[in-house]
Amino acid sequence: MKQLLKALTETFGPSGHEGEVRKLILKEVKPLADEVRVDALGNLIVHKKPAANSKNPKRIMLAAHMDEIGVIASHIDKKGFVRFTNVGGTFGKYTLGARVRFMNGVTGVVGYDRMEQVDNALPINKMYIDVGATKKEDCPVKVGDFAAFERTYMEMGDRLVAKSMDDRSGVAVLIETLRAIKSTPNDLYFVFTTQEEVGTRGAGAAAYGVDPEIGIAVDVTATGDTPASLKMVMELGKGPCVKFRDPGMLSDPRVVDWMITTAEKAKIPYQREVLLMGTTDGREIQISRAGVMTGALSIPCRYVHSASEMVDYNDLKNSVKLLTAMLSKAVSF
Ligand code: CO
Ligand code: ZN
Repeated sequence: MKQLLKALTETFGPSGHEGEVRKLILKEVKPLADEVRVDALGNLIVHKKPAANSKNPKRIMLAAHMDEIGVIASHIDKKGFVRFTNVGGTFGKYTLGARVRFMNGVTGVVGYDRMEQVDNALPINKMYIDVGATKKEDCPVKVGDFAAFERTYMEMGDRLVAKSMDDRSGVAVLIETLRAIKSTPNDLYFVFTTQEEVGTRGAGAAAYGVDPEIGIAVDVTATGDTPASLKMVMELGKGPCVKFRDPGMLSDPRVVDWMITTAEKAKIPYQREVLLMGTTDGREIQISRAGVMTGALSIPCRYVHSASEMVDYNDLKNSVKLLTAMLSKAVSF
């Protein structure tokens, strides 16, 4: 899974430009799927059918988003400096000094107007991208070009660090779960969604198309395990998190119960999650059509939305174990 995660995180895919990521996932899932399709928003929908003798299979949709946060060029000045705005939750503090790569392969570094302005707030409208151009005419970036963080994957023991662990770690978990499920009584849809970071847009369209009875989003969650972090119980390395609440969703208690009883029976470590900021595709799935029983399995992650997001390898392995155990048996609610 580490090789796969390295490949996934080093691939370019800001919201709306998930094509390269989709291509990589498609190569992995094609031999494991009964059916694969891509919808109009670019969601990759992978269908694994129930075993032939299964009675009343439940239609279950799992979702992990392919896109990552990024920036978009909004103005090029006479000297070829590129002004930009955010695509999703791109924070100033994490962006200053970063290297970014545009979709045409051009790389740049992010500078700030005047360093004496560096105090508390670091608004990105005081920043620019220097791509090495000296005048507008030789700037290889056009207004409307997207860029994302440029950063290589690295391992620090069991701690894995890369850009876009949010949510390529979830993508890797879904791929490995699909690989691990030999046969299932359920009707499974593994959906790799688009445009989550700009407001869970892909998942809504995908959920409408799939029309599931149960939904599970697989995404990262922030932790409370660093010095002076928010008071939250989630920690790296203590197992996948069963979401109870984030500001966008209250998990369905039946799905929560299914996750917890399965984890306890299979002796898989898990954590209870109440997240104080952010949300996931689960929100969009839950309120699609006439409503869907929805929960979320979250991977604890430090430094979310920075170019060095950190997860723990054991949490990824246990996430695969938990999902595999849940989906391999008939659902009783
Ligand atoms: Co995110
Ligand atoms: Zn995410």
